[in-house]
Amino acid sequence: MQDAAPRLLRPADAAGCADLHATSFAHPWSSSDFEALLADSACFGDGIVDGAKITGFILSRRAADEAEVLTVVVASSARRRGCGRRLLAAHLARLAALGVAKVFLEVEEGNAAALALYRRYGFSVEGRRKNYYAKSDGGRGDALIMRRIL
Ligand SMILES: CC(C)(COP(=O)(O)OP(=O)(O)OC[C@H]1O[C@@H](n2cnc3c(N)ncnc32)[C@H](O)[C@@H]1OP(=O)(O)O)[C@@H](O)C(=O)NCCC(=O)NCCS
Repeated sequence: MQDAAPRLLRPADAAGCADLHATSFAHPWSSSDFEALLADSACFGDGIVDGAKITGFILSRRAADEAEVLTVVVASSARRRGCGRRLLAAHLARLAALGVAKVFLEVEEGNAAALALYRRYGFSVEGRRKNYYAKSDGGRGDALIMRRIL
């Protein structure tokens, strides 16, 4: 059901988030990591959910009028069909409604898909962390820090 509208994630979605996260990141977060994040009143997640299966989700943490996107992922079988776009749109609208004025995120500079998605949603590069990411080939990659004013 990749066409379903994103909905607010709850702690009960933690296992589904962990399963999907593990498919896309070298250092996946556990189900209990997600459970703690989703139970934290400063964290907000939106997901495209079909029963117990999560097709994509985005998670951020708010502090005062700023928020940081902690992670975004869409199942590889559902990519390039607008899920990432819909998740980001729903999530930014949620953050704006909560009074968030600035949203930050970090992305590996070689992650063309994520960079294109973020740029499309008005994020611009504000800084760089040299050699921040460990890459699967054993090398290091820079992190770009991006910001969007809501
Ligand atoms: C980044 C990610 C969330 C995008 O999800 P998605 O559902 O495929 O994105 P969408 O289909 O909504 O695409 C939206 C826009 O992003 C850009 N985009 C997405 N995938 C792209 C790719 N492979 N190459 C270039 N641009 C891409 C395009 O501008 C696209 O718009 P278009 O389809 O009209 O051209 C997905 O690729 C993913 O989960 N990647 C692995 C996890 C990850 O890297 N997360 C980000 C960590 S910072």
